[in-house]
Amino acid sequence: MVKSFTEGFLWGGAVAANQCEGAYNLDGKGLSIQDVTPKGVIGPVTEEPTEDNMKLVGIDFYHRYKEDIKLLAEMGFKVFRTSIAWTRIFPNGDDKEPNEKGLQFYDNLFDECKKYGMEPLVTISHYETPLHLAKEYNGWTDRRLIGFFENYIRAIFTRYKGKVKYWLTFNEINSIIHIPLLGGVMTPKEELSAQDLYQAIHHELVASALATKIAHEIMPDAKVGCMVIAAPVYPLSPKPEDVIQALQTEHDTLLFTDVHVRGKYPSYAKRIFKEKNITIQMEPGDEEILSHTVDFISFSYYMSICETADKDKKAGKGNLMGGVPNPYLEASEWGWQIDPKGLRHVLNTLYDRYQKPLFIVENGLGAVDQLVEDENGNKTVIDDYRIKYLNDHLVQLAEAIEDGVEVMGYTTWGCIDLVSASTAELKKRYGFIYVDRNDDGRGTLERYKKKSFYWYKEVIESNGASL
Ligand code: BG6
Repeated sequence: MVKSFTEGFLWGGAVAANQCEGAYNLDGKGLSIQDVTPKGVIGPVTEEPTEDNMKLVGIDFYHRYKEDIKLLAEMGFKVFRTSIAWTRIFPNGDDKEPNEKGLQFYDNLFDECKKYGMEPLVTISHYETPLHLAKEYNGWTDRRLIGFFENYIRAIFTRYKGKVKYWLTFNEINSIIHIPLLGGVMTPKEELSAQDLYQAIHHELVASALATKIAHEIMPDAKVGCMVIAAPVYPLSPKPEDVIQALQTEHDTLLFTDVHVRGKYPSYAKRIFKEKNITIQMEPGDEEILSHTVDFISFSYYMSICETADKDKKAGKGNLMGGVPNPYLEASEWGWQIDPKGLRHVLNTLYDRYQKPLFIVENGLGAVDQLVEDENGNKTVIDDYRIKYLNDHLVQLAEAIEDGVEVMGYTTWGCIDLVSASTAELKKRYGFIYVDRNDDGRGTLERYKKKSFYWYKEVIESNGASL
C-alpha cells in the first residue's frame, strides 16, 4: 500500500498528434516530416506520403476524439497530454496567417477535456516539424525557424490562453543529437557537421526559452516545462574510464536541462565545443532569452543505459540513446531494457541538481497484445505484463516522493494504442485501450478496454494506494 502521492497529483496519459490523429491532409493541414517517414523517425524520408505510412490514418483520433476522451475520463484522468500539430496551424510553417480550421480542432479537443475536468498538457512540437521547413531551410539549422516558431506559439498561446495551463516546448529535445531529422534536419546524420548540429540545438534552445518568455507574458498563470529523454547512465563497470564515459554521456542530456533550468550554457559545454571545433553563432539578445527559465522539468522514462570506454562493446538493440546492455536487466520485445529503480534514480538526481518540480510525461511498455473474449463475450486484452511494468515503475516513483522529490504528475505513454514513433508499427502497443487496426492497414478502428484499463482506474481512484 503506497501513500506518497500528494493531493492533486496529476494522473493521466500521453499521446502525440502525429501518432494518433490521422487526417494528415484534412481541413488545411500541411505535411510534416512524419508524413514522409513511413518506417519511423529513423527514416528514410520519401518524396511524398506513401500508403504504407501508418501515421496518415493513425487511430483516426481526429474524428474520434470525443469517444476517446470519454474513455480516458472513465479511468479518472486528471490530465491528458497531447501535442498540437504545427502543420494544422501553419501548414508550411512559414505562412503569415494561421489556419482557422486547425485552431478550431484543438479548441474542440481542449473543451472536451475540460468537460471532464481534465487538464490538457500540450507539447508545442512533438517531432512534427513542417516538411516545408525541413526541405527549404534544413530544419533547425536555419535561424529563421525561431521567427516561424514565434508566430506559431503566439497564435496558439493567444488562442488557448483560457484553456491550457500546462505547456511543454519540444518533445525530447535532446533526441536531435541522436536523430537530427527529429529537428527537421534533412542532412543525413553521417554528413552533418558538429557545427551545424550544435547550431540547430542552439536555435531550438533559444526558441524554447522564447516560448517560456512569451507564455508567461500572454498567460501569467501558465506553467511551462522542458522535455527530455531521461535515461540514467550507469558505468558498465567500476573502472574509472567507464565512470568518466558515463559522466560524459550524461552531459549530452544535462546540457539541455542545464540551459533550460539555469538559463545559460553549463561550464562543461565549453570543452565540448572546443573539442568538436564548434563556435556557436549567437545573436545579441540570445543570452537574455535563454535567461527565461522553465517552471518545471518533464521527461520520458523508458530505460537506463550503460556506458563503457571500451569501443568494441556493441550498443543495445532499439535503443535511441546508445549505450551497451546492462547484464542485470531484462528487455522488452523491442530490446528496451526495463529498469523501474532507474526511475527513482533519475528523479533523485534531477531533483538534487535543480530543486524544480518534475513531471514524468512518458513511461510505458510497448508490447504485442492479443485480443480475446472475456467470460461475458466482450473483447479485451489480458495485459498483465503491462500492469506489472507500470506498477513496478509507480512503486519506484512513490519511493522517490518519499525521498523528498517533488513530482507534479505522471502520464503513461500511448494511453490509447497509437502508431509507434521509432518503428511506425501498430503492433507495438502501449495503451489501456486497444484499437483495432493492424500494420497491414486492416481493422475497424473500434476501441476495447484492456485489463490494464481497470487497473489504472483503481490506481487513480485510490491516488496510488492500490499499488
Ligand atoms: C518517445 C517519444 O521517444 O517514445 C514518443 O516521445 C514515442 O513519440 C515513445 O512514441 C515510444 O517510442 P516508440 O518508438 O515505441 O513509439
